[in-house]
Amino acid sequence: MTTADIPLRDIPTVTTARSAPRSATLIGLGVGSSGSVPRQLGMNRRALEQHGFSGKIGQTLVVPRRDGATLVAVGVGESPSSGDLRDAAAAFIRAAGRHGDLACDLVDAGSSAINDARAVTEGLILASYRYPGITAQPSSSPTVSTITVFGSTPARSLDAGVRQGTVLARAAVLARDLANTPPAHLNARDLEVIALRLGREHGFGVEVFDEEALSEMGCGGLLGVNRGSVEPPRLLKLTYVPRNPRGHVALVGKGVMYDSGGISLKPSDAFHVVMKMDMSGAAAVLSAMTALRDLRCRTAVTGYLVCTDNMPSGSALKLGDVLTMRNGKTVEIHNTDAEGRLILADGLSLAVEEQPDAIIDIATLTGAAMAALGPDVAAVLGSDQGVIDRLRSAADSTGEPIWQMPLETGRYRKLLDSNVADMRNIGGPYGGCITAAIFLSEFAGDVPWAHLDIAGPMKVDGDESWRSRGATGFGTRLLIETVTGW
Ligand code: BES
Ligand code: MN
Ligand code: ZN
Repeated sequence: MTTADIPLRDIPTVTTARSAPRSATLIGLGVGSSGSVPRQLGMNRRALEQHGFSGKIGQTLVVPRRDGATLVAVGVGESPSSGDLRDAAAAFIRAAGRHGDLACDLVDAGSSAINDARAVTEGLILASYRYPGITAQPSSSPTVSTITVFGSTPARSLDAGVRQGTVLARAAVLARDLANTPPAHLNARDLEVIALRLGREHGFGVEVFDEEALSEMGCGGLLGVNRGSVEPPRLLKLTYVPRNPRGHVALVGKGVMYDSGGISLKPSDAFHVVMKMDMSGAAAVLSAMTALRDLRCRTAVTGYLVCTDNMPSGSALKLGDVLTMRNGKTVEIHNTDAEGRLILADGLSLAVEEQPDAIIDIATLTGAAMAALGPDVAAVLGSDQGVIDRLRSAADSTGEPIWQMPLETGRYRKLLDSNVADMRNIGGPYGGCITAAIFLSEFAGDVPWAHLDIAGPMKVDGDESWRSRGATGFGTRLLIETVTGW
């Protein structure tokens, strides 16, 4: 694979109609857990129940017919939310087998036409996703190519929702592709090439800061982490400025293209094979930027992708080294595997210099976040409850769960005290997600700031609703929803 192939992979085309087109070979029909059953199914509720189908969200029952398209009863439960319908749409896709031309009537089941159509579209596209991998023969398994969303919902709402859902899902698919790509196929310079191309195509500016620029800027955190790598670092600054912006939000993404741990080397277990995904935060920010013009976002957004490998070598960062960061503060290194906070520190400092209304950073930062909240839920912490609440409500609507943890600076800042520098880069054995966030808060200045730790939900081990095995693109839609609703 070359860098040119990575982004903008085809996604299924989702269109709208009043009824299922003749070309569709598989048609999904929403069936609630009570009430009437669509007549076309040719089965009443009792018959459905005999086949184990009760109409719960996530259930499907494939009903073949002698003539015409195969039908699928898709459970939509009782007065489904948009999120329920996203799950139902994903379940339909997971039941699609070898069919490539599909149609479904799911939006009618809900009560909020645009949001439902958007969520259904997201579920359809995101569940269709499969990372193609890098193989001698391209995969021969058929993929979904067209999906018609039909129903009696007013056409304008249906169209608008499908259009928005397509933009959102396309962005999340891009984030998945980037995070799934092996590290030798996607280094910081490759990401630069991709960002430049995406900026041209999606209407945002891209400024590139290379090693030389970074050292002039005093980005000691990023340069320190990069020291052990033969690949140079990049800081990519992305700018989206609409006419008469309503506000200005900065997004900072951790872009560790591969995290070996540095000289605090990680073990070679299966768990760490996924450290190619340690740039998932940067992928989410970059991907979010691609959606803003299409969604007519009225907020100005500046994205900072802080990109490097974290490698051990003769030139690598050592324990006991002291780094001087962009904002002048110094950090004593106690563990080179706590690298994310070192590079984010510089990204945050640069963001603060522009004095935006808020800064949100997103990072696969700590195993501790995963230990606390499990693999599906991201942690959110920060200095400003308003920003945190905006993220929480956006997360509710995008179906990307986040949970607030306390920053507790008063109690725990002392865990970062150093004898030789302003702070050390790790706290004690406990509260690792919190001490990492306290570390970051030292670089967020006085700008309202929130931090998302996505170490857990960056990936999923198997297909689950709209999340397909591998990188999830977590945070992409959440960031888009947050800034467009600012
Ligand atoms: N990238 C890792 C965190 C991570 C772990 C992300 C698992 C996704 C899955 C991060 O750079 C790291 O290594 N964190 C250390 C910090 C520790 C040394 C204080 C950790 O969590 O173990
Ligand atoms: Mn690490
Ligand atoms: Zn890392």
